[in-house]
Amino acid sequence: MPLKQYEIATIDGDGIGPEVCQATVAVLREACGADLLNFSHHDGGADHYARTGHVLPPDTFAACKTAHAILHGAAGMPGITYADGTEVGNDLHLQLRFKLDLYANVRPVRLWKGVRSPLRDWQAGQIDYVIVRENTEGLYASRGGGINLRGEVCTDTLVVTRKGVERVARFSFELSRKRQGAPRDGKRRMTVCDKANILRSYAFFRAVCDEVAQEYGDVEIDYAYVDAMTVHLVKRPDYYDVIVAENMFGDIISDLGAATIGGMGLSPSAELGDHHGLFQGAHGSAPDIAGQDLASPLATILSGALMLRWLGDRHDDTRLVSAADRVEQAVEQVLAEGDAVPRDLGGQAGCRAMTAAVIRRLATERQDTGIAETAT
Ligand code: IPM
Ligand code: MN
Repeated sequence: MPLKQYEIATIDGDGIGPEVCQATVAVLREACGADLLNFSHHDGGADHYARTGHVLPPDTFAACKTAHAILHGAAGMPGITYADGTEVGNDLHLQLRFKLDLYANVRPVRLWKGVRSPLRDWQAGQIDYVIVRENTEGLYASRGGGINLRGEVCTDTLVVTRKGVERVARFSFELSRKRQGAPRDGKRRMTVCDKANILRSYAFFRAVCDEVAQEYGDVEIDYAYVDAMTVHLVKRPDYYDVIVAENMFGDIISDLGAATIGGMGLSPSAELGDHHGLFQGAHGSAPDIAGQDLASPLATILSGALMLRWLGDRHDDTRLVSAADRVEQAVEQVLAEGDAVPRDLGGQAGCRAMTAAVIRRLATERQDTGIAETAT
């Protein structure tokens, strides 16, 4: 019986997207060997739209639907917008999210060894939580549907559905059950981040989370209004384990969380539905540094590790889970030992140098442990 192989659809995208996506493919090939992952490359993003009129070409979407997982670099070019002023490139993500129903945008916020938090005195391991951003409704449900009346009045509607909240809340409770609890006290804690004191839609979001909480007596439910949450993430980040938030709030607090552990260059994401997964750094396309070997690939590489772990859990394939462990360990060693320091962390290492440093660590580990080339 031939060993299972996994089809990975990659979309390089715009700006730094190609270099960080291709860097991650090289790292995953080193971690998994030659036979485990089969990568296919597909077009998409703002530049492609400017050439063809398609931000998510039909054949790319078809490949994403049938692949085991999707790995993406970044998308969006500031000058390429629709008539309504919104950016074209972002539609690549948004169309994939809505069409593949990727309802849980999982954003780990972890302080790695060797990385200094801009917050005073926090050490690796003391900041380790996950923001689960509802990814298919909220204020984003109005994307392309808002009103611009005579250029005088504009509105966008915040949409909160029972189904949407139930499934993202359940996902968050289940995630907390798989973790070791908050660094501060080891408690499994699921924090609902909303503005329930002011808006009925967020009061409904909280109420549905409370209903789901009845099924998870072993996980403490906690609440924070989003304004207070921005203070807590700075003042007591070790208190958090899993945080669930509506789409727009999740978008905002996940960047704040990333800033507390070194920046967007260390911010991976896994955008998950019941049948598909999209993995990308939570950063943007950074066109100002594109194509100059200046970008850090670490957020995308860590997203690749999330992809391996997600696939390994879904297919009960220990080869993938151990490869995910190896990729994360290699990144941690590079950061902790200072093999190469990316520019966004104060160093000089570019994309190629960071990628080579991670691959060297993986290769050394493979030789030391005698893991076969095919990682069987
Ligand atoms: C993110 C980004 C996206 C968002 C853009 C690129 C569509 O900011 O993934 O955090 O707004 O969700
Ligand atoms: Mn964002």
